[in-house]
Amino acid sequence: MTTIATVGVLGGGLMGSGIAQVAALNGFTTIVREVDDASVQRARTSIEKSLGKAIEKGKLTEQGRTETMGRLTFTTKVADLAPADIVVEAIVEDLDLKNAIWKELNALCKPHTIFASNTSSLTIAAMASAGGRGDRMVGLHFFNPVPVMKLVEVVKTVTTSDETFKRAFDFAKALKKEPIAAKDNSGFVVTLLLVPYLLDAITALERGVASVEDIDKGMMLGTGYPMGPFTLLDFVGLDTTYKIAEIMFDEYREKRYAPPPLLKRMVLAGYYGKKSKRGFYDYSVEPPVVSKLGL
Ligand code: CAA
Ligand code: NAD
Repeated sequence: MTTIATVGVLGGGLMGSGIAQVAALNGFTTIVREVDDASVQRARTSIEKSLGKAIEKGKLTEQGRTETMGRLTFTTKVADLAPADIVVEAIVEDLDLKNAIWKELNALCKPHTIFASNTSSLTIAAMASAGGRGDRMVGLHFFNPVPVMKLVEVVKTVTTSDETFKRAFDFAKALKKEPIAAKDNSGFVVTLLLVPYLLDAITALERGVASVEDIDKGMMLGTGYPMGPFTLLDFVGLDTTYKIAEIMFDEYREKRYAPPPLLKRMVLAGYYGKKSKRGFYDYSVEPPVVSKLGL
């Protein structure tokens, strides 16, 4: 079995920057590809900030930070991912965009390179033929925030070889994560169960069941969740949640995955959550306040 030494990460947003950070921290040479210089800079800053926090908390030394940053390179060129032994894709949740990049990478990467998608809701099967290496294609589904959340779902599709699955599972362990095996169904395990709950919270708000703050407070204090559903929605990204819901609704044709109208209106208004400084809460002020949503 070829050893994984170099990791390619496609996308340096919320998830890609976290995946790259964890890979570099655990000794892998890591190359992050973003679409333009501004996005590259955002990814680098996000990793530097997160490592800075780890130093403040005494979890990382200055030397550890220098070594981690030394293992990371950032690029806008897809061709720079050619040396990777595994490519973890974490770009926007859009099948056509993902497949276009898999196709390009298949022509560039080494034959043994594993293609792994961090998709929340697409099936790995939907990407396997574009990737052109069905036996070396898996799902590696990380959780947000990646440096903190222990879980990785490792997903085997109909064409994935046992060897690839094992290499991907061992890679997740090498990142000091707790992998679980999941079937290649839309949403795997966690998103399948979590998304209907988040969408139900929006529907409850639309129906006037309670306020944003009280629904959040209720779920935190009543069930022990670390975040209420609206804080979590803002954290995941409303644009991403909307795309996930659309994909799952399309897959299952079940009402519980249908994005509520309010979610769509917010995305149309550019309310993407924490990353755009406005979602169910307004993050332009400290502490954040509930957004006016015209309800
Ligand atoms: N990078 C590095 N470390 C971070 C971090 C980040 N981005 N965010 C938080 N941390 C660390 C903090 O430094 C802190 O460390 P210590 O305990 O050593 O002090 C620890 O995590 C806890 O953080 P805080 O004290 O700041 O805040 P908290 O106690 O509220 O925890 C949280 C933050 C871990 C995010 C917690 O609120 C939580 O678990 N929230 C739920 C997250 C969740 O459900 N994620 C899954 C989303 S769904 C998904 O990912 C799948 C999908 O496909 C959509
Ligand atoms: P994000 O919007 O924060 O980041 C996506 C990044 O991809 C952007 O920075 C964008 O510039 C970049 N990008 C777009 N096209 C690209 C390309 N062709 N090459 C390289 N970069 C490109 O999104 P995110 O929240 O990081 O989600 C990324 C993926 O991870 C999605 O598939 C999502 O479903 C999945 N996911 C998200 C979460 C979450 O909580 N947000 C959790 C687990 C999995």
